[in-house]
Amino acid sequence: MSTTKVDAFEQSTSGVAWPMARTCPYRLPEKYAELRATEPIAPADVWGGTTTWLITKHEHIRALLADPRVTIDPAKLPRLSPADGDGGGFRSLLTIDPPEHNTLRRMFIPEFTVRRVREMRPEIERMVNGLIDKILDREPPVDLVAELALPMSTLVICQLLGVPYEDREFFQERSELATRVAGDESSLAALLELRDYLDRLVTAKTANPTDDLLGALVASRVRTGELPHNEAVDNAVLLLAAGHETSASMAALGILTLLRNPDALAELRADRSLLPQAVDELLRFHSIADGLRRAATEDIELGGRTIRAGDGLILLVASGNRDEDVFTAPDDFDLHRPARQHVAFGYGPHQCLGQNLARLELEITLGAVVERIPTLRLAVDAEALRVRHDSTIFGLHELPVEW
Ligand code: HEM
Repeated sequence: MSTTKVDAFEQSTSGVAWPMARTCPYRLPEKYAELRATEPIAPADVWGGTTTWLITKHEHIRALLADPRVTIDPAKLPRLSPADGDGGGFRSLLTIDPPEHNTLRRMFIPEFTVRRVREMRPEIERMVNGLIDKILDREPPVDLVAELALPMSTLVICQLLGVPYEDREFFQERSELATRVAGDESSLAALLELRDYLDRLVTAKTANPTDDLLGALVASRVRTGELPHNEAVDNAVLLLAAGHETSASMAALGILTLLRNPDALAELRADRSLLPQAVDELLRFHSIADGLRRAATEDIELGGRTIRAGDGLILLVASGNRDEDVFTAPDDFDLHRPARQHVAFGYGPHQCLGQNLARLELEITLGAVVERIPTLRLAVDAEALRVRHDSTIFGLHELPVEW
């Protein structure tokens, strides 16, 4: 191992402070582009003080996310706040490495294939149209986060998992707290409350099987002893939290971006077959789940650096998705660009399980808005929109519109 490479970290008086606030809905922190150009694998300064690297190039992000010498074990990840520890002892897809992870993931895959998800289209269309009917019955302005994006994703995930929609306030609030980027005790407490809630639900489904994803999981895996009850519960927490906040954020940001790009909006209205590629470009452009955490379990040589066993890694997928070596004019929102190689859903073994569903939800929601509310416009100055910059899932607090 070359000492000069290691010294690069040790001699750095202070690394780049992480987390970094993202204050604009369309622009990433300027530091991202600077790091890609000057120090694509850069020492980070994190709360826990572990040697940690910020990874900003698309190529390096993909290489590390697929590298078997990289772990997602919560006990080994860089700590961003006092609340980060062993993650409350959770055992979900997002805490387990392959090969154990493969076995667990295989249990969920059938529910998330393109074919299975396609069957949900009529139901999601019905839900979205119902929400838009209600919006059109009201006097503008209306907040599209509260009245469309969040209820859409929540209705979908509730129906899929078999979670009562009436409980949404409880689990939306807890998920919001639990996904804070630098959480405190309230984040862990919220996560434990979510776990209690889903524990009761999974127990009820064990006694009285239901015809939904959690019901099926209990019937086919928990009852046979293949999946311990606690792991079914922890994965239900993951699915419920990951499944509603993300799609809601993307739907709201997607609508905002189309309103800010009237040419793209007009093109989509004229040709709805552009919707799938618009969705991928929006996913790339916003990259709402940024700063994926990992740790190296062995020394890794990459990009002229030596990442040592035990070092933390923070993979800035939002930066990778604006990498000039992969995407031309990456800071532009371009409906016609081939964007599919983005890493907004991650990469490697933990790549988003819900990506087919997320794409469908976005396609249907954006398509319905474009078609049914042709005079839609922002009700406030875009600069006045408040963003969620303290969350691991970037998004808007509200999106007031009129028509
Ligand atoms: C626009 C919407 C979404 C985005 C941008 C997104 C993004 C991501 C990302 C970046 C990861 C990888 C995390 C990592 O490697 O550390 C991930 C994993 C995951 N996502 Fe999503 N997600 C979205 C929607 C959904 C939905 C709708 C569901 C469920 C219904 C879901 C369920 C999951 C699960 C279970 C994992 C963990 C997979 C594994 O570890 O094997 N996501 N997502």
